[in-house]
Amino acid sequence: MPTTTALDQALNIADGALRTLFAKPHASRTCPTVPSQATELSAEDKSLSGALMRVNHVGEVCAQALYAAQALGTRDPVLRMHFLDASREEGDHLAWTKDRLDKLGARPSLLNPLWYAGAFGLGLVASRLGDSLSLGFVVETERQVEAHLATHLEHLPTGDHESRAIVAQMKDDEARHARAAEKAGSTPLPAPVRLLMRSAAKVMTTVAYRI
Ligand SMILES: [Fe+2]
Ligand SMILES: [Fe+2]
Repeated sequence: MPTTTALDQALNIADGALRTLFAKPHASRTCPTVPSQATELSAEDKSLSGALMRVNHVGEVCAQALYAAQALGTRDPVLRMHFLDASREEGDHLAWTKDRLDKLGARPSLLNPLWYAGAFGLGLVASRLGDSLSLGFVVETERQVEAHLATHLEHLPTGDHESRAIVAQMKDDEARHARAAEKAGSTPLPAPVRLLMRSAAKVMTTVAYRI
């Protein structure tokens, strides 16, 4: 049976990071669209949508890093598959948000390598706490992302049907990821950790809105 060496692991980590940050992402599911409602946006609305979708794209860059790190950190092959399956769905979100950014004429965050590295480190820390807390971290992250996406549905221009369709589908998917992690045997995180995560997310979303 082939064994995975430290070099294989390092190459896999580098490959995942480079693909997320620099390759054109491909979705396995069709991007949610509302074909009957053509999107006509003013310059101001376009700029607002671009900033909000940049934040969501950063969230998906982080999701790739978190799931990759947590898959790497667990010794349970079933749980590793769980993380990798979720990561594939997050890959759709990454592709949809990047495509939407391109169509809005907006750029991804310049700090994406930094966001990826930070999230990867956080994912490794979570996995060191053991599988059930690592799953608890997924539950909390996905719930916070779901709540964050709900606020974006309030703030996105009402005429931007395309961004809204993507965000609505992502919100449903994140809620499902939280339920799946719960079902897989998560332990709830302590309240101070949840608060810390919310504060870190606030910093990330505020910075990514602009840079
Ligand atoms: Fe996602
Ligand atoms: Fe998710």
